[in-house]
Amino acid sequence: MSALPQEASSAIPGATLRPLSDVMGAEVTGLDLTRPFDVATRDAVYAAFVRYHLLVFRDQKLDKPQQIAFTEQFGTLEEHTARNRGDADYPLVHEVSNLGEDGRPTGVVNSTLWHTDKSFRPKPSMATILHAIILPPDGGDTVFANMIAAYEALPDDRKNALAEARVIHSWELSRENVDRPLTEQEKRESPSMNHMLVRTHPDSARQCMFLGMHASHLDGLPLREGRARIEDLEAHATDARFQYRHTWSPGDLLMWDNRCLLHHADPNFDAARHPRLMHRTCLRGATPDGSVPFDIPEGFADS
Ligand SMILES: [Fe+2]
Repeated sequence: MSALPQEASSAIPGATLRPLSDVMGAEVTGLDLTRPFDVATRDAVYAAFVRYHLLVFRDQKLDKPQQIAFTEQFGTLEEHTARNRGDADYPLVHEVSNLGEDGRPTGVVNSTLWHTDKSFRPKPSMATILHAIILPPDGGDTVFANMIAAYEALPDDRKNALAEARVIHSWELSRENVDRPLTEQEKRESPSMNHMLVRTHPDSARQCMFLGMHASHLDGLPLREGRARIEDLEAHATDARFQYRHTWSPGDLLMWDNRCLLHHADPNFDAARHPRLMHRTCLRGATPDGSVPFDIPEGFADS
């Protein structure tokens, strides 16, 4: 289990950090994210992000340019896929919502399966920044699972058995898309990747599992068998003891580490009645060690 400090601290200049659970997360109060950080504050925020995996900045009100400017302080913004592109003015800010073209609730909540953002890319997302714009009166939670804690909880023989395991992350093959074949453009934008199942976090050097809904199957096995193995691993990795549930408050801005967390949206609100709108920016990560492209063999989807 992560050994997270459990006392409030002022490790970020001008701010108070308060841990939210013993598995991940810290609340940050006292900062105004509409203004650029000085170097010391930026570095302290990043250190807290690595330590707690998830930061919850309270009482923020950023417009899209301000969210882009905040995000850019930590790296390179990532473009979204064609289907998820933001509006024409700010394509780097994706609007996550249950709203239709007419601006009314559709009853549909996306991203309800465990995943880590864009894990099918050669350079999977390092971090996601999600800012609450409109919240339902209750619910609409986001749930996270700590893949470092999940890996560390495995017995040594399981760790050894998984040391060389590889997993195919494929938007094309992932279960969500079974009933919605990708367009040719989407396939070109998102070729499949072969990642190590156990990845070393580049900042903390801790090992974690790299799974989620885009993890199609274990490499070297027929699809069905490889997928069953992934489902077993994911059932362990998303056990309640590794989870933190975030219940949103107005003004919340979350920044989480996609390299070691899974997350999903909980549709625990009346999505046909109440709007829920978030603004999302993503930071591009580095290619994980050992990752290589994966070409889907002819007929593989039926294996
Ligand atoms: Fe997501």
